[in-house]
Amino acid sequence: MTDGTAATQEFYSRYATVYDLVARRTPGVADLRESVIAALDPQPGDTVVEMGCGTGANFPHLRERVGPSGTVVGVDFTPGVLAVARDRVEREGWENVHVVRGDATRPPLCEADAVLATFVSGMLPDPAAAVRTWATLVGPDGRLALGDLGRSTSPLGRPLNAVFAGLVRATTPPGGGRRMDSPATLLDERLVAAHSELERLCTGVRRDVRALGFARVRGGRVREDAVESEANRDGT
Ligand SMILES: C[S@@+](CC[C@H](N)C(=O)[O-])C[C@H]1O[C@@H](n2cnc3c(N)ncnc32)[C@H](O)[C@@H]1O
Repeated sequence: MTDGTAATQEFYSRYATVYDLVARRTPGVADLRESVIAALDPQPGDTVVEMGCGTGANFPHLRERVGPSGTVVGVDFTPGVLAVARDRVEREGWENVHVVRGDATRPPLCEADAVLATFVSGMLPDPAAAVRTWATLVGPDGRLALGDLGRSTSPLGRPLNAVFAGLVRATTPPGGGRRMDSPATLLDERLVAAHSELERLCTGVRRDVRALGFARVRGGRVREDAVESEANRDGT
């Protein structure tokens, strides 16, 4: 485990209950989650895997879409957030929702119909590689969706970019992005890397921009040739 990984897990475990409130109650966040899930377009009966599921703020939205015959699996590597997620699943009696401790970049599953990740790309050292791994997991015609925050390019949001960068700095776990001069720059680079890779691998991409341009959503269907060519490139 790297210093950055340990610091991230320590940070999210310590602030898991606070994070849970922020993740569910911030004005506009429920609509943003709905937008990501609309871009994912899960169908009744699907198995949907959420990478970096945190405290499970997306679970109720996902459950509604996959219905009683579908399954939701949340993967996260931080014990503290998984404990909050598990408590919620048990309390609500959601028998078709499961949480698993694991690394989203090396998912502990071998198949799924759809994969989503919200507010996670910015925490991955190689987000494009992670998106490729998720595309391979769902296979051709499987679905991927991402929802991420980054500095705004909209005329309405741009004046607030300095405030946003300050918030990113204040909430970046020590040992990871703080080593960078600007954690917001790192966040932007990782957002672009993940979303560009999704664009490259998917067809029928749906896009949405929210929160004055600070929130970016993308989702699509994995192209047949995308996964094949990735497999060929890896020699598998
Ligand atoms: C900002 S939180 C987002 C949580 C949730 N997706 C949401 O929308 O509220 C990022 C989460 O990603 C998890 N995470 C980051 N990198 C990860 C990795 N490589 N494998 C698994 N989980 C990871 C962290 O533990 C944290 O719970």
